[in-house]
Amino acid sequence: MSSFDFSGRVAAVTGGASGIGREVAVEFAESGASVVVADVDDEGGQDTVEQIESDGGEAVYVNTDVTSMDDVEAMVETAVDEFGRLDYAVNNAGISGGEEPAGDVPEEGWEQTIDINLNGVWRSLKAELEVMTEQDDGGIIVNMASILGKVGFENSSAYVSAKHGVLGLTKTAAWEYAGDGIRVNAVCPGFIETQMLEEAGISTNENVREWIEGMHSQDRLGKPEEIADAVLWLCSDGASFTNGEALTVDSGFTAR
Ligand SMILES: NC(=O)c1ccc[n+]([C@@H]2O[C@H](COP(=O)([O-])OP(=O)(O)OC[C@H]3O[C@@H](n4cnc5c(N)ncnc54)[C@H](O)[C@@H]3O)[C@@H](O)[C@H]2O)c1
Repeated sequence: MSSFDFSGRVAAVTGGASGIGREVAVEFAESGASVVVADVDDEGGQDTVEQIESDGGEAVYVNTDVTSMDDVEAMVETAVDEFGRLDYAVNNAGISGGEEPAGDVPEEGWEQTIDINLNGVWRSLKAELEVMTEQDDGGIIVNMASILGKVGFENSSAYVSAKHGVLGLTKTAAWEYAGDGIRVNAVCPGFIETQMLEEAGISTNENVREWIEGMHSQDRLGKPEEIADAVLWLCSDGASFTNGEALTVDSGFTAR
């Protein structure tokens, strides 16, 4: 249960149909915000909305592919049309990409990972800024990076490159839009128990799971709520002087 008060505010979350994005959407709604849930997974997106509504919250789902500028513009328009404004945007949609050394990554796979995980964050941010720069009190953007935005990791070169790029974009946009009352930060999670790790065979293969867990000081995977809490804090007044930050939530993975 979230301890923030975002009553009367409006949030948009890409990748809101599953995992971290769903938890962020649910926690925003628990804090009183109206939420636009954006994803390509219609069923998962509707489930997130149903979960929010059954808890008494307000949300709407929009089919949004972050590889399309038209789609992310429609997501932002939905926030404005349905709820009147856009205060918080969480650019979270992402895929795990391939599992080969850099020299073996197929060109198509490289391009897809960069297009969703990096270009998709930029497209979303571009559309969000159009509205936020026109609002008297600006807005707050949180981009979902990763510990793999800070360190390398074998057989994940496209993902690692995209996430490093997300941090570069975050730091730069933070400076460019601070004068408009907009803060732009990123969260860098360690390995979190979601569908993404299941699909990558990390949480389901006992040996791999143990190896990955051992890279975290608490010897376990993180939970989506532990990341959502960091996202909501970045959107809160408690983070009013935090801008351009890459907030690591990784149980010490990158601390040694
Ligand atoms: N799980 C982890 O260990 C971990 C660690 C660090 C960072 N992250 C990042 O967190 C974010 C969320 O990942 P998750 O673990 O919750 O995974 P997830 O697979 O549970 O959720 C990702 C969501 O993104 C959506 N998505 C994929 N491509 C899309 C597109 N083109 N347009 C719109 N939506 C799209 C999926 O449909 C899905 O609902 C990702 O950016 C991921 O890179 C995850």
